Amino acid sequence: MQKKSMRDLDLDGKRVLVRVDFNVPLDNGRVSDDTRIRAALPTVNYLIERGARLILCSHLGRPKGRPSPVYSLRPAAERLSQLIRRPVRMAADCVGPAVREQAAALQTGQLLLLENLRFHPQEEANEAAFCRELAGLAEVYVNDAFGSAHRAHASTAGVAALLPAVAGFLMERELNFLGKALADPDQPFVAILGGAKVSDKIGVIERLLSTVDRLLIGGGMANTFLKAQGRTVGQSLLEVDALGLARKLQQQAGDRLLLPEDVCIADRFDAEAQTRIVGVDAVPDEWRILDIGPQTIARFTASLQNARTVVWNGPMGVFELPPFAAGTFAVARALAELPQATTIIGGGDSAAAVEQSGLADRMTHISTGGGASLEFLEGKQLPGVAALHDA
Ligand code: 3PG
Repeated sequence: MQKKSMRDLDLDGKRVLVRVDFNVPLDNGRVSDDTRIRAALPTVNYLIERGARLILCSHLGRPKGRPSPVYSLRPAAERLSQLIRRPVRMAADCVGPAVREQAAALQTGQLLLLENLRFHPQEEANEAAFCRELAGLAEVYVNDAFGSAHRAHASTAGVAALLPAVAGFLMERELNFLGKALADPDQPFVAILGGAKVSDKIGVIERLLSTVDRLLIGGGMANTFLKAQGRTVGQSLLEVDALGLARKLQQQAGDRLLLPEDVCIADRFDAEAQTRIVGVDAVPDEWRILDIGPQTIARFTASLQNARTVVWNGPMGVFELPPFAAGTFAVARALAELPQATTIIGGGDSAAAVEQSGLADRMTHISTGGGASLEFLEGKQLPGVAALHDA
């Protein structure tokens, strides 16, 4: 269902509560990766141009319902201010009389960032009085926090019942790309899944198996499939509890499922470890699989060639350590070289890998949601999306 957009509203002079996802990594009091802040700029700039007064709100980290300076959003306010070249006022809290006063005093085009919503337990509890407090600050609510849309919290869901509630541009973009890939992908449709655990991706695999032409599996989760086929995987990461499930998924997928044929193994989990490339039948007991091998890279790359839609979620190996990054970066390169395909990267590790590979601008869409994009691809309704008004 299409959601109402900011374009549907008269925003001139209006106080607008904007839920953004500024849950960004910090390093020594500075934002070390501002991707999520930059992703909110189209919405922020549009609201400024339309003469709105902006009250931005977000969570950062998991402060467990108590104020804590290490989880302050102040560094995000500073980074946003640099990016938009305007002052961004920082509130000391997200509710209460002082915040109400600051919000009321905002002039057209001015911005106030509320302090971390999760300093109050009522945020995650989606408590009614807290929702009313937040809603009381504004006349319109815009949700641009796709990354938090899988949470049914006060600022992502509850407040939407109390104000005209519309999607921001980032939210729209995420829903359009992920929604099309899920419901009506241009074919051939190839999904590439990786990361540590099969159990994290069961829902996604099951949902995608109804539409994919090919499913490529790498990363730690491939080990569980290999073991389920009766191979030995040495000291590799393995989910013994998921072996039966891996067999079932493999049966369901049939010859659409491509698993590694060769792998890069190491004698320990370390960037300085001894490494070897071996076939999946030849992993010694004391060694562990940490990446896919060159034959697998070639086969995966070939199987992507005529793809029109590709969804990628999860790295092919331990790409954070240079000796085990080849598979993940090769997949990124293969995607970057598909002129005809819509390439969609799930958030979290795969987004980080694409950034590191330097090929981020060659992808059609990189999701800002980790958990949210996974739940969306499972076909689940996200509370933060469901709460917005239908177009
Ligand atoms: C994320 O980083 O996935 C979102 O900001 C949600 O954060 P959470 O998992 O702490 O709710």
